[in-house]
Amino acid sequence: MKVATITVNPAVDETISVDHFKLGTVNRSQGYRYDAGGKGVNVASFLADYGIPVAVTGFLGEENADVFERHFERKGIEDRFVRVPGETRINIKIMDEVNQVTTDLNMPGQAPGEYAISKLMEQVETMSEACECFVLSGNIQSGLPSDFYADIIQLLKSKNRRVVLDTSGDALVEAVKVKPNIIKPNIHELSALVNRSLDGIQSVYSSAISLINEDTTVVVISMGKDGALFVEKDQAFVAKPPEVTVKSTVGAGDAMVAGLVAGLSKDMSLRECASLATAFSLSMITRLGRDLPEMKVINDFQKQVEIIPVVFEQLKN
Ligand SMILES: Nc1ncnc2c1ncn2[C@@H]1O[C@H](COP(=O)(O)OP(=O)(O)OP(=O)(O)O)[C@@H](O)[C@H]1O
Ligand SMILES: [Mg+2]
Repeated sequence: MKVATITVNPAVDETISVDHFKLGTVNRSQGYRYDAGGKGVNVASFLADYGIPVAVTGFLGEENADVFERHFERKGIEDRFVRVPGETRINIKIMDEVNQVTTDLNMPGQAPGEYAISKLMEQVETMSEACECFVLSGNIQSGLPSDFYADIIQLLKSKNRRVVLDTSGDALVEAVKVKPNIIKPNIHELSALVNRSLDGIQSVYSSAISLINEDTTVVVISMGKDGALFVEKDQAFVAKPPEVTVKSTVGAGDAMVAGLVAGLSKDMSLRECASLATAFSLSMITRLGRDLPEMKVINDFQKQVEIIPVVFEQLKN
């Protein structure tokens, strides 16, 4: 199965290592690196590492596209990004390994013009011939309407393509109305979507199941160190990760989306998808690199994930 990811607001991730980082003083850095980033780009990278054919699209500033182009070439990812004038934004991550804190400085990202938007729609339509599954990841920049994802989802559904959505805020509110096939909000995003505070697995489950319908058949709610709740119409599991030493939580959610798509592309059951997706996340948060590790590492993590079925009788009481 060929997968496409759409990233409308990618970023160059600049990671600066600063031990004992302090505001308002001169800090000494131990080093820095920059990588092609953006949630859909990350998901595509993990899928490519796992051996799944993948194409990427979205908007890319033509002035600093080389970071992305090199990355896609290295990973064997098909580059279908629409080029726009100017630069892709830079997101800065200040990583303090001593205190185990990361500080993010995310730039806004420029809104694409009418022409670029229509090019993207054309591109998505063309890609829908070869790609069976589309992953829409990340926030949309201000300047794009909040139903931007909803329009893309409708186009893809008219082509009988499977849509996986990972976004937040108004874009998520608008998108769920057109029923994407799979959604993966984290618990905070879900809480904002259903407009209620979520406390305990029962309230998370009842909010998640309320989003299930004839088209939206899988809802995954990630809950940081508490794991994730995987929900289908008639079964649900909590995938509980082991206690691990976290090196960086960057990309935990993206790895989970990639693991879920990887499992589904291999026709795995929800239970297997839950442990694979969690293993993908664990292999990212326990290491500093951005590539998925070798299969053995993922398999070992998968064995350490506890899958706890949600008992419906308990939930009804
Ligand atoms: N501290 C942790 N310990 C163990 N597992 C973790 C931890 N943090 C995250 N995970 C794993 O990663 C998964 C996704 O993490 P999280 O819920 O933070 O996603 P997210 O909020 O969508 O992240 P992102 O910022 O990447 O979008 C979790 O469901 C869990 O399996
Ligand atoms: Mg997320």
